[in-house]
Order: sequence, then structure tokens, then C-alpha cells
Amino acid sequence: MTDPKKYILAIESSCDDTSAAVLCNAKVLSNVVATQEIHRQYGGVVPELASRAHQQNIVPVVHQALAKANIDKKQLSAIAFTRGPGLMGSLLVGTSFAKSLALGLEVPLIEVNHMEAHILAHFIQDGDRAAPPFPFLALTISGGHTQIVKVSGHFAMELLGESLDDAVGEAFDKSAKLLGLPYPGGPLIDRYAQGGDPSAFAFPKPKVDGLNFSFSGLKTSILYFLQRETKKDPAFVGDNLADICASVQHTILEILMDKLRAAVELTGIKEVAIGGGVAANSGIRARLREAEEKLGWRTYVPKFEYCTDNAAMIGIVGFLKFEKGEFTDQRVAAKARYALGS
Ligand code: KG4
Ligand code: ZN
Repeated sequence: MTDPKKYILAIESSCDDTSAAVLCNAKVLSNVVATQEIHRQYGGVVPELASRAHQQNIVPVVHQALAKANIDKKQLSAIAFTRGPGLMGSLLVGTSFAKSLALGLEVPLIEVNHMEAHILAHFIQDGDRAAPPFPFLALTISGGHTQIVKVSGHFAMELLGESLDDAVGEAFDKSAKLLGLPYPGGPLIDRYAQGGDPSAFAFPKPKVDGLNFSFSGLKTSILYFLQRETKKDPAFVGDNLADICASVQHTILEILMDKLRAAVELTGIKEVAIGGGVAANSGIRARLREAEEKLGWRTYVPKFEYCTDNAAMIGIVGFLKFEKGEFTDQRVAAKARYALGS
């Protein structure tokens, strides 16, 4: 009889986090993430430095993941890895490592789309946390992504809308930078916003067709607003930081919620699942609770460590593909632009 337990080693290296995880079927045994601190001093991710740091981190991170899971590499059933989308130099490190390891261990290789993984993270078995039932809407919000996706099955996804320019996390981070806050400023805006008045200042919302988003105009209007106000009063930012943060956050959340409400109306689907680093924002969580109470939505947020970039979400896709017998040829190459469902 074959062992019903499948052990998947998963590798994620699409941006600036090197991560490895071991899953036993849909359960996470370990999920190790090495966050690259080097980018902090540059106020954003520097692709060449990210690639070099992945090369340094990948072997120790994989070792740690296996050790924490108490699994020998000979027990592995398959190696899953992020093929794309992401930074080419970063993806290359994880892709080559995964290919070599699978070849050496003579186990199947499984490619994973990073954006599908953010969504399928909801299917990681984690205590009594329920996965969203199909069909559901997924809102993926992070420093690199802003997408609304209709999910009809594990591998039946339809992109309904996405940002045409900056991702929502970038909107938070760039606004924070204008306020003199360190990178990544999203969590700081969230913190200051909690003590401020969201209606203190008004910023225009962009007019974008359909379910797409745009955040680059907001950054420009904040810049002009701050230039105007500090000319009148050089202490303006320091004296009004909480109110500015609350107003910026309010505008960003309005932009997100307007489109999410439109997607619910368009599809009639009230199951709404969110993921990505911005899912940590206290304001978005409050908005979702409000939509549950007032609009009858049912909302789903994975554990935070499965929201930010991590290999456990790559592992769950690896397991689901393993079950389907969907394996990848050794000739596979990393793919920086990799559309969902392609
Ligand atoms: O998913 P993630 O860790 O990495 C990727 O970008 O893929 O997301 C990081 C982003 C950053 O832009 C960060 O500022 C934002 O998520 N973020 C937040 C909060 N926590 C993290 N933005 C707003 N409020 C937060 N509490
Ligand atoms: Zn991501």
C-alpha cells in the first residue's frame, strides 16, 4: 500500500523573502521565512540585491525547514516552487534550486503561480479555520499585487480586476515615505491612523473603469497637498500626523471597498476572501466585519504568516497539484510575467 501521507518541500523566492516550507498533505509542518533587511536602507526592493540575498539564504532556509519539520529529504514526495510572477533574478534562484533538488532526489517537480498561491493559502489546514466555499471572490492586496479574482475551483480562477499602476501596499509605503516614515510604512500608517480623524483631510478617488484600480494619482495628490500645507506651516506633518495617516488610509480603503462591493454586486457572490500583506491592516479588517454585519458577506482571512509572502502557500498548491498528478518538466524556466490561470 502506498503511504497516504505526501511530504512536499516548497520554495518561494519571487521578491525579497526567501522561504521554504514542508507540508504533510494540507498541513504545514514548517514555514521558514528569511526577510531581506538590506532593502530597508534603500526605501524599496533592489532587484539585484534581492537575487544575491536569495543565493545566500536558500540553502540554510531549506535546511531549517526540513529540520523544523523533522523530515529527512529522502522522505520528500515532491518539490514545489514559485515559477512566477516576480523579479526574474529572484525567481531564477528558487527555480534552479528546486529543479536541481528534484533531479537529485528523483522526485516530481511542481511549478506554482505565486498569485494562485496567495489565494489557495486559504486551503491550508489550520485548526478549525474554515476554507471559503466555491465560488468565492479573492482580494489579494500586498506590496506587489492588487487583484480581485473569481474563484470557482482550486484551479478555476478568473481575474476580474487589478491595479493598472501601483499596488495598494505601494500606495501605503509611498505615502508613508512622503510623511518621512521608514520603509515599509504601511504598518506605521495603520498605527498612527488609529489615533486620527479619517475625515480630517480629503483626497480625490481615481475614476477607473470596471473592477480595476489605480493608486498612482493618490500619491501625487498627497505630495501636492503636503507641499502646499508645509509651505504655510513647516510643522504641519508633525502636528497632524495621525489625522493625515487616518485620511490617507481612509481613501485607500474606500478605493478598495468600492471595487469589492462592485464585484459582489456584479457576481452575486458574497463569500469574500482576502490575502497578501495589506490584509494585516486593522482598517480593512474593520470594513470586512462591517460588510458581514450590514451586507451579509462572509469573509475569510488566513493566519497572517500565510498572508505575506511565504512558502507554505506554495506548498498547498504543490499538494493540490500532486493530487491531480500535475507535474512539471525539468525544462521549465522562471517566468517573471505569469498571468493567473494561464
Ligand atoms: O505580502 P507582503 O509581505 O509582501 C509583498 O509585497 O508581496 O506585503 C507587504 C506590504 C507592504 O507594502 C506593507 O507596507 C504592507 O504590506 N502592510 C500594511 C500593513 N502591514 C503590511 N499596509 C497597511 N497596513 C498594515 N497593517
Ligand atoms: Zn506576494
